Amino acid sequence: MVGEGNISFTKSLLALPTAQITHMTATTFEKERNLANEAVENANILKQAGAFVMHGVDATKLDKSFKPHEFDTIIFQFPNVGSRDAKHGHNPNHVMIRKFLRSAAAYLKPSGKIMVSVVDSPHYEGAFQFEEAAEFAGYETPETYPFDPSMFSGYSHTNTNDDESALDEHNKFLTWVFRLKE
Ligand SMILES: C[S@@+](CC[C@H](N)C(=O)[O-])C[C@H]1O[C@@H](n2cnc3c(N)ncnc32)[C@H](O)[C@@H]1O
Repeated sequence: MVGEGNISFTKSLLALPTAQITHMTATTFEKERNLANEAVENANILKQAGAFVMHGVDATKLDKSFKPHEFDTIIFQFPNVGSRDAKHGHNPNHVMIRKFLRSAAAYLKPSGKIMVSVVDSPHYEGAFQFEEAAEFAGYETPETYPFDPSMFSGYSHTNTNDDESALDEHNKFLTWVFRLKE
């Protein structure tokens, strides 16, 4: 898990035996000293359950933190750079997702997948442009399926810059699934 914010999504997976997860690594972009209390508490719960927790991990620069081909699945829930300033003429979230997909490719097992959940709306689709990002980074055209946060007990999503939640303002979400081209 990258960009985990308050780490509540990873914690919710612990309580989901049907997910059949045997090893988990939760990472936050924020450094440990900048974590909110809730994130610290959730990190401790995860560590006690045997998961790895790391902080200060940039999803666009995974080479700094991991060994190649380590993961079956890499998940980024509701990525958001928290800025609207264009980068090289592109939406900054599109640029971040492109760099994340390119960086993550080396850390997936050969049949592994990347899952990214976002609000299901033309605005978000226009901001992220997932199909173009997949093509750029060497993935097949991504598949999507509905994401239902209510299936993840204890998941309390927060925004990048404040305590509000996009999940309160929207009611349709999608998970985009990316697999590397053969
Ligand atoms: C809308 S919040 C979602 C947090 C959490 N995934 C959730 O679903 O509640 C977006 C998150 O993206 C993280 N983020 C932004 N840029 C990032 C980057 N380059 N690498 C990793 N995380 C990043 C932020 O720190 C923030 O926690």
